[in-house]
Amino acid sequence: MRLEQLVGNATRLLTSLLDTSRLASGNVRLEYEDVDLVEIVNTVVDRLREEVHRSGSHIAVGGAPNVHGQWDRLRLEQIVTNLLSNAIKYGAGNPIGVQLDERDSSASLTVSDEGAGIAEEEQHRIFEPFARGRLGGAPGVGLGLWIVHHLVQAHGGTILVDSRPRQGARFTVRLPKYLIDIPHCAED
Ligand SMILES: Nc1ncnc2c1ncn2[C@@H]1O[C@H](COP(=O)(O)OP(=O)(O)O)[C@@H](O)[C@H]1O
Ligand SMILES: [Mg+2]
Repeated sequence: MRLEQLVGNATRLLTSLLDTSRLASGNVRLEYEDVDLVEIVNTVVDRLREEVHRSGSHIAVGGAPNVHGQWDRLRLEQIVTNLLSNAIKYGAGNPIGVQLDERDSSASLTVSDEGAGIAEEEQHRIFEPFARGRLGGAPGVGLGLWIVHHLVQAHGGTILVDSRPRQGARFTVRLPKYLIDIPHCAED
């Protein structure tokens, strides 16, 4: 990896870390606007294309052609970027899939890979800060999923992981499409 890329990655991590801790302490609010989740995914996939190319993977985006909702665009980009970076890093060069759907008042984003997977006994703690699994063997700090978890929660959503060792991992994010569907925002 080139020096500029390393510095770029470290700077992005630090920025999103500071942003997340401010969010977690209740000092900042999300900036809601009308967003198309499919457009966000395509933007992030395009931004990661060099990294994908180097890994030998390929990302296939499927599902609904548009998924509109009221979300914070930049934080949604961070969610997608972190999940896709993990799929690239731990995906062992195998195909990566992104599936986008909407049902009633919620949208879902699924990122799946066919890499090392996550041991069952580790799956409950990978969203904690600095938690790293023993499979996969790629470098990292263990903060990406903690950030993702916080950003998803701040949107009133949920994230689930489904994985078997050597059979890859699948992360599913579910987000309420409109503010009115988030209990803690309804009275604002
Ligand atoms: N797609 C994935 N496949 C296998 N393991 C994963 C995947 N995503 C996350 N993990 C596991 O969860 C841990 C935490 O992920 P993350 O918070 O992004 O930290 P990092 O990538 O810096 O290790 C990783 O160390 C890895 O063990
Ligand atoms: Mg990561």
